[in-house]
Amino acid sequence: MLSAATLTSWSNFVINQIYAYALFNHLYANIDGYNIASAAKKKSLIGSKDDLLYGEIPFDSWKRIVERAKPKEDAFFFDLGSGTGRVVVQSHLLFNFRKSVGVELIEGLYSKACETKEVFERIVKPQIKDHIGERELCFYKGNILDTDVADADFILLPHPFKKEEDFLRLEEKFLRQLKPGTKIVTLIRSLRNQAFKDLGYEMFDFSWGESTAYFYEV
Ligand SMILES: C[S@@+](CC[C@H](N)C(=O)[O-])C[C@H]1O[C@@H](n2cnc3c(N)ncnc32)[C@H](O)[C@@H]1O
Repeated sequence: MLSAATLTSWSNFVINQIYAYALFNHLYANIDGYNIASAAKKKSLIGSKDDLLYGEIPFDSWKRIVERAKPKEDAFFFDLGSGTGRVVVQSHLLFNFRKSVGVELIEGLYSKACETKEVFERIVKPQIKDHIGERELCFYKGNILDTDVADADFILLPHPFKKEEDFLRLEEKFLRQLKPGTKIVTLIRSLRNQAFKDLGYEMFDFSWGESTAYFYEV
C-alpha cells in the first residue's frame, strides 16, 4: 500500500507513483516468490537450506528507503539478491536510475524475474516508453560474492548471510571495487568495517515483519 504521508513527499518520479504502483501490481499479481524459493529449497539445489532466506520489500517501503538513501538521480543501481526482481522493476518504473540490475542465485527466482521483464517490455513499456527512454533493466543469475559491482552508484544488500566470513568478504569487495560516493543500504545486518561512512538506520516494514535498514556511503 502507498501511505498518504509518502504520496506528497517526492516529486521526482519517472511516472506518477500511483500509476507505477498499478503497473507493478499488474506485473506481480500472480507471482509467488515464496513458493518458488521453497521449491528450490526442497530440491536443495543450492547451498544449505538455511542459507536460502527469501523475503520481499513492499513497494512503499522501498520507495521510502530510496528517499532516505538519496542516491544520485541517474544512478547505476544493483539489488544483490533480487528474488523475482520486484525491487529492480519498481526502481525502473519509479526512479530515474540509468540502469537497474538484479543478481540472484536461485534459478527459479531468476527465471521469474526474466519472464516479468519480458512481460514488462512487451505490455508495459510501450505505454510509458517516453518516460523510460534509454534506461536499462537487467537480471543476472549468479553469486553476489562473485559479482563485479565497480559500476554501481547505489547498492541494496537485502540478504543477511548466515556466515560472517561471507559478509566480511563482501565488505572487502565493496571497499576494493566501489567508487567514493556510492550509497549502500543493507537490511537486518549492519556493515562492520569502519571505512564505510555511517549514515544511520531506520525501521521499515518487510514481508517478514519490521526490520532495520542501514545506510552507508563509500
Ligand atoms: C530477502 S530476499 C530479497 C528479494 C528481493 N530483493 C525482494 O525484495 O523482492 C534475498 C534474496 O537473496 C538471494 N541470495 C541469497 N544469497 C545469494 C547469493 N550468494 N547470491 C545471489 N543471491 C543470493 C536469495 O535467494 C533471495 O532471493
